[in-house]
Amino acid sequence: MGRRLGRLSHVTGPVDTLGRPVRDLRISVTDRCNFRCTYCMPKEIFSRDYQFLPRDELLTFEEITRVARIFVRLGVRKIRLTGGEPLLRKGIEDLVGMLASLEGVEDLTLTTNGSLLARKAEALASAGLRRVTVSLDSTDDTVFMAMNDVGFPVEKVIEGIEAAARAGLVPVKINMVVKRGVNDGSVVDMARRFRGTGHIVRFIEYMDVGTTNGWRMEDVVPAAEIIRMIDSVFPLEPLAPNYRGEVANRWRYKDGSGEIGVIASVTQPFCGDCTRARLSAEGKLYTCLFASSGTDLRRLLRDGASDEELEQTIRRVWEARSDRYSEIRSSQTVGLPKVEMSYIGG
Ligand code: GTP
Ligand code: 5AD
Ligand code: SF4
Ligand code: SF4
Repeated sequence: MGRRLGRLSHVTGPVDTLGRPVRDLRISVTDRCNFRCTYCMPKEIFSRDYQFLPRDELLTFEEITRVARIFVRLGVRKIRLTGGEPLLRKGIEDLVGMLASLEGVEDLTLTTNGSLLARKAEALASAGLRRVTVSLDSTDDTVFMAMNDVGFPVEKVIEGIEAAARAGLVPVKINMVVKRGVNDGSVVDMARRFRGTGHIVRFIEYMDVGTTNGWRMEDVVPAAEIIRMIDSVFPLEPLAPNYRGEVANRWRYKDGSGEIGVIASVTQPFCGDCTRARLSAEGKLYTCLFASSGTDLRRLLRDGASDEELEQTIRRVWEARSDRYSEIRSSQTVGLPKVEMSYIGG
C-alpha cells in the first residue's frame, strides 16, 4: 500500500476551515432497511406508506465509483459502505469489487445489521471487502427483538458475525447503541458473550441524529458509566488509539481476553479530528452526520460534468466546511432539522 500511496502523494487534498483534511468516505447505498430499530427508524414514521427513494434516484455503482475515485484523489484512504441496510442493495458485492480496485484505498469496510451476512460474507470477502461492522444491541432476544422491532433473533445475527469471521472479514466490530432503561442491562452480557472471540464490541452513546427518534439527554448512558459497569466485572485498562481521530476510545481486558471500544460522541465529542465525508444513496454530499442539507452531486454526474468539475465542487464544499455539531450540541440544536441516520448511514 505504501508504494501505491507514494504515487498519489503529489496531490494536495483540501482542508476545511478548522484545518481538517478529508480521509474517510462513508457511502450510503440504500435508505431502506429490513429492521425498524426504535432509535433509528421508528415504525410510526417508517411505516408501510413511507416513501423511500425510487430506484432511478439511487446512484448507480458506476456513479458511486466515479465519485469515490475523485475523493481518493482528494485524500480519502478509507471507505465504508452503509445504508439503511447495505446488503439489501442488489449486487452489492459488485460495488465492493469496483471500489476495491481503486488505487489508494487502504481500508474498505461495511456496516450491516447482520441479517443477510451469513449468506453474503464469502462473496463480499472475495470481492475485496476487508472487514465488517455488525450492529447488535443485546444478546437477550426479548430486548433485541423489541429494539429491532421486527422480531429478528440474536442468534441469526451471531451466525452472520461468525460467517464474516470465517470469511476473513476481521476483526469483526460489533456496534451496540446503549439506551437507558432499554438495553443498558445488556452491557455486561455483551462484554461477556464476545470477550475471547477476537470480535471487538463498541458501546455507542445514543445520539440525537435525525428528528424522528424522540432523543432525550436522559436516555444517554455516558461512556464513563458503561466502562464502570464492565470494569467492575471484567477489569479493564485503556489502550492508545490506532490512528489519530479514531472515533472509539479503546480498552482492553486486563486478563488478555481482548478489547472493546466506547464511542462517546455525546459526552466527549470528537469533531476536532473529524475527517469524514458522507455520500447519500441519491448522491448528496454531507459534511456532518447532523447536517440538514447536502450538495447534489448526482445532478452534476447526470448533466455530464467532467471529473475536474466534480473535483472542484467537492473541494469547494470541503474548504467551506465548519461542522462541529457534537461540540455545540445544546437544547437549541436538538430540535433542528437534520437528516435521518437511515438515510445518511452511521
Ligand atoms: P472503525 O474504522 O471500525 O474504527 O470505524 P468507526 O470507528 O468509524 O466506526 P463506525 O463507522 O462503526 O461508527 C460507529 C458509530 O460511531 C456510528 O454508528 C455512529 O454512531 C458513531 N459515529 C461514527 N462517525 C461519527 C461522526 O462523524 N460523528 C458522530 N457524532 N458520530 C459518529
Ligand atoms: N445513536 C447512535 N448510533 C446510532 N446508530 C443508528 N442510530 C443511532 C443513534 N441514534 C448506529 C447503529 C449502527 C450504525 C449504522 O449507526 O447502531 O451501528
Ligand atoms: Fe436499520 Fe441500522 Fe437503522 Fe437499525 S440502526 S433500523 S438496522 S439502519
Ligand atoms: Fe464530524 Fe459532525 Fe460527527 Fe462532529 S458531529 S464528529 S463534525 S460528523
